[in-house]
Amino acid sequence: MRASIPAGLSHKEAELYSRLDPARFPRHIAIIMDGNGRWAKRRHLPRIAGHRSGVFAVRNTVQCASRIGIPAMTLYAFSVENWLRRPKTEVSFLMGLLRRYLKIEMSSFHENNVRVQFIGRWRELPVEVQERMDWAIEETANNTGLTLTFAINYGGRSEIVDAVKSMINAARRNGGLNHLDINEESIDQHMYTSQLPELDLLIRTSGEMRLSNFLLWQAAYSEIYVTETLWPDFSGVKLLEAIAEFQKRERRFGGIESIHPATVHSA
Ligand code: IPE
Ligand code: IPE
Ligand code: MG
Repeated sequence: MRASIPAGLSHKEAELYSRLDPARFPRHIAIIMDGNGRWAKRRHLPRIAGHRSGVFAVRNTVQCASRIGIPAMTLYAFSVENWLRRPKTEVSFLMGLLRRYLKIEMSSFHENNVRVQFIGRWRELPVEVQERMDWAIEETANNTGLTLTFAINYGGRSEIVDAVKSMINAARRNGGLNHLDINEESIDQHMYTSQLPELDLLIRTSGEMRLSNFLLWQAAYSEIYVTETLWPDFSGVKLLEAIAEFQKRERRFGGIESIHPATVHSA
């Protein structure tokens, strides 16, 4: 079946959209936004110029995701390792960029009905950044379109550590550790992403074939799409190309036949 074209898409986006199957859109797309430094290096610019340009790619991609009705998008903006291993000047530039981005983007979040949230140990960030993040969450809390989650000071392993701690604390509150009920569902409920749909599509830009500690638990059966495109060159058009590739994949979830994920998660 052909999809009716949503309003606001560019000519090229509309053309790509028209070839997609509206019944098989991913419900949750996550992106490892990599390659800002290389983008800048190729232009003989400092790394921070790549991060600055990366913001335009975020804007264009988020806008497109929201227009085509994707329910959830999670963007890896900053890892726990980035926090520890990058020069202080680059880290503080990224902190400032995040603060400015959230403010500048607010009108576009509202226009596109986007709800913003954050995952990761972002309570360890400078207080003025946290304040802006709290503000963005509050401002967009009643938007009902795309749930846009930024992973900031995020690590997949630290998320699992935090989930285990949270389970133990919950059991203690509810009558003691003999009430600790450990199974996949209960662990899932304590992950940062407990309120988000199953992760269907994981995109990584700039060609690296690794997860870099991103959504380790959630990626169990996600389709992985790696593109050579560097993050600042990513866009709504590139997102639609990734979705087209996703729709060609045969997802078997360990079985022998292709299964539509809507039936597998409830099984
Ligand atoms: C991704 O781009 C952005 C962040 C990790 C914040 P990089 O800064 O990792 O760019 P490359 O990988 O060095 O090109
Ligand atoms: C992953 O990219 C983290 C983000 C995109 C925020 P990195 O550039 O930090 O990953 P590695 O170092 O190539 O694994
Ligand atoms: Mg990188």
